[in-house]
Amino acid sequence: MSNNLFDFGMIGLGVMGRNLLLNVADHGFSVIGFDKDEAKTTALETAATAGTTVKGVPDLEEMVQNLKTPRKLMMLVPAGQPVDDVIASLLPLLEKGDVVIDGGNSHYTDTLRRVEYLKETGINFMGMGVSGGEQGARTGPSMMPGGNVEAYGHIKPILESIAAKVGGVPCVDYLGKGGAGHYVKMVHNGIEYAIMQLISESYAILKKGGLSNEKLHETFKTWNEGLMQSFLIEITADIFLQKDDKTDAHLVDVISDKAGSKGTGKWTSQDSMELPVAVPVIDTAVAMRTLSGYKDERVQAAALYPDTDSSANLSEEELIAKVHDALYFATILSYAQGLAMLFQASKDLNMDIPLPKVVSVWRGGCIIRSLLLEVFSKAYAKNADLSNILLNEDVAAVVKSVVGNTREVVSLAAKEGVPAGALMSSLAYFDAFRSERMPTNLIQAQRDYFGAHTYQRTDIPGTFHTEWGQN
Ligand code: 6PG
Repeated sequence: MSNNLFDFGMIGLGVMGRNLLLNVADHGFSVIGFDKDEAKTTALETAATAGTTVKGVPDLEEMVQNLKTPRKLMMLVPAGQPVDDVIASLLPLLEKGDVVIDGGNSHYTDTLRRVEYLKETGINFMGMGVSGGEQGARTGPSMMPGGNVEAYGHIKPILESIAAKVGGVPCVDYLGKGGAGHYVKMVHNGIEYAIMQLISESYAILKKGGLSNEKLHETFKTWNEGLMQSFLIEITADIFLQKDDKTDAHLVDVISDKAGSKGTGKWTSQDSMELPVAVPVIDTAVAMRTLSGYKDERVQAAALYPDTDSSANLSEEELIAKVHDALYFATILSYAQGLAMLFQASKDLNMDIPLPKVVSVWRGGCIIRSLLLEVFSKAYAKNADLSNILLNEDVAAVVKSVVGNTREVVSLAAKEGVPAGALMSSLAYFDAFRSERMPTNLIQAQRDYFGAHTYQRTDIPGTFHTEWGQN
């Protein structure tokens, strides 16, 4: 084999790495993949589309030597130490100008550290969020790259050709400096957690209202044909129809209620508090997954605090219509909080994240793709520097049209004892956000009372302290 033959390389040929690499090959690029496991290099070659140039090798050096310069390669390995290990083995093999992309779910601070570390060597390290799961990787993911903008120029043609397209526009773009790509993906996942939690709460309310799995399927299917069209609503509709292959039940009914997580939702909450930015729907979603793990205690508590009789007397159709609006409202609030977090982080962490592009990249291929992103795109087209999408008039009109039913659903959930923390917290955030004056003046008074923390006044500038309780 002659040297400098391949356009693009992949390190790590698990399902994601393999599928993404095959996608690159399907778009006319010659590709080479490395994995220590020869079964995976063989699986790569076997799965290649006829007529494409795909090679798998079990030797990293061989892969690197067979790439055109400047070399363009991506790693899709588990986040954390494995990424540092790959970098250490790559370093002696690469040259100035080469571009290395980490396409895993790395924490943005790790990415930033790696970008800085590799800068001295002249190797361009880029962190890139990849969303869409296995299928998306194969047929068109959404990709969120960040780092050196010139290095992005080298990989742009490849990424644009393999990305999902919406109206012909590729769902990939340069999203900012340093660790911006992984930051945007982290927040994407925070929003993903929030929307999944909201859907599960809506399911709980509808189920308590007597909807069968068939009716739930029909409901979500209908919702997906309207304003609420999105990937997560679409797959939820499918889930309700899936039969178990071991019993006569619907599969969803025999799945344990303990939810897993790999940590990106938690990272979003942690980072929001560092900034700080308020993202309570995401926080609640993370907390509910944690609470789902308290199975033994929940079983005991269920006996101690049994359900009271249902008092709701809504018709099924009324209930469905109201829950639709509540879910729509809270989904808007989830995006609003995530995007507000990106707005703040972009400035505070010096990442220059272009929010209009983020929204455009999320329109297709990713887990949180939805029709709503078109509404947000229009909002950013009017004002690219919008601090919170709730401040856009068109978004406000939509929110105002559904907030009434949201209040009814939240009241219903509270009365019926259905756990709906994320729906509730979306409304609580909204009511605080639209309060010209919050009751936090009282907190300032308390802080000054017991700790002399001082306060500002509404009428006179300056900082004040009072000896409380003395008049
Ligand atoms: C995506 C997803 C993906 C994520 C899974 C699992 O955009 O394709 O966000 O990257 O890893 O959704 O996340 P949890 O295990 O934390 O739910």
